Amino acid sequence: MTITIKVNGAARSVDADPDTPLLYVLTNDLELKGPRFGCGLAQCGSCSVLADGVEIRSCQTPISDVGQRAITTLEGLPALYAQQRKLPKAPDLHPLQQAFIDEQALHCGYCYNGQTIKGAELLSRTTSPTEAQIRDHMNGHLCRCGTYPRIMKSIQAAAAKMSKEG
Ligand code: FES
Ligand code: FES
Repeated sequence: MTITIKVNGAARSVDADPDTPLLYVLTNDLELKGPRFGCGLAQCGSCSVLADGVEIRSCQTPISDVGQRAITTLEGLPALYAQQRKLPKAPDLHPLQQAFIDEQALHCGYCYNGQTIKGAELLSRTTSPTEAQIRDHMNGHLCRCGTYPRIMKSIQAAAAKMSKEG
């Protein structure tokens, strides 16, 4: 059947079985490269996207469950950031994406999508998270390369930059 969902600010229609995981629609039908297949069991976070600003695991979300919620993938994060911060135009990268680069936080990069989506979710709620809040919020996003200290530094750096910008 034809199902229409809102992805990165645009209505997108796909022909799909209602039980198809959102992840498959995003990557196969819409050819978005941000969300990644990892465990397929909602346990690693590599497939995460935002639905109305709230992180969900797209590997375990049937396309028919998306409804009217606005989906944001990694590709749409800068535009969402501009919208949230009322900026005149979207930056090339969300501050957390830039911080990951500046802090050289990634090794293989496989977890990058989920770490960024989850971190951006936190930073949309507070630009002064404590270390404990960050740890708690990011819990459940696995990095098999173990770059957790640098991921922590990246989130703190992005928070400091956003906080300074007001
Ligand atoms: S692939 Fe979705 S949580 Fe692991
Ligand atoms: S950088 Fe390799 S899984 Fe996180």
